[in-house]
Amino acid sequence: MISCVRRYPKESMGTVSRDLTWLTRFFSRATVHRVKRVVAHTLSWNLGALASLYRTDKGPAGHGYTAFYARHLARRRRSVKSVFEIGVGGGDDPLEGGNSLRMWRSYFPGATVYGLDICAKRLPPEPRLGGC
Ligand SMILES: C[S@@+](CC[C@H](N)C(=O)[O-])C[C@H]1O[C@@H](n2cnc3c(N)ncnc32)[C@H](O)[C@@H]1O
Repeated sequence: MISCVRRYPKESMGTVSRDLTWLTRFFSRATVHRVKRVVAHTLSWNLGALASLYRTDKGPAGHGYTAFYARHLARRRRSVKSVFEIGVGGGDDPLEGGNSLRMWRSYFPGATVYGLDICAKRLPPEPRLGGC
């Protein structure tokens, strides 16, 4: 049996205060995701800004890999059809995580983004996000 140990505390997933997560104090998570998707649409070419908006660990306030991803992927941004990411995040909470999947969805406007995690995930359905 695989035990799902929380090695990645939620607090470590992002330290950016520019994101809109504070809205969850007033609105449902689904509503906040919808608002973020609209904002993300206006930033979709800027992977670092998307990482901050979605509080992934990949942006300028995290390990900063978005600069390297963008360097290699920017030219193919509009032609990518599928993205598969290993590691959904959110610890062992089945309803948490998916931040970087949402970042990739905004960055690749024609792609469906699939995620796989060692922890069981039951994220509510969202457009162009696929589960594994
Ligand atoms: C740092 S978090 C991912 C953060 C996420 N990509 C983001 O930016 O929001 C790492 C995730 O990888 C998952 N993980 C660790 N080992 C794994 C494995 N062998 N197979 C699949 N997922 C794994 C953990 O459960 C955790 O959710």
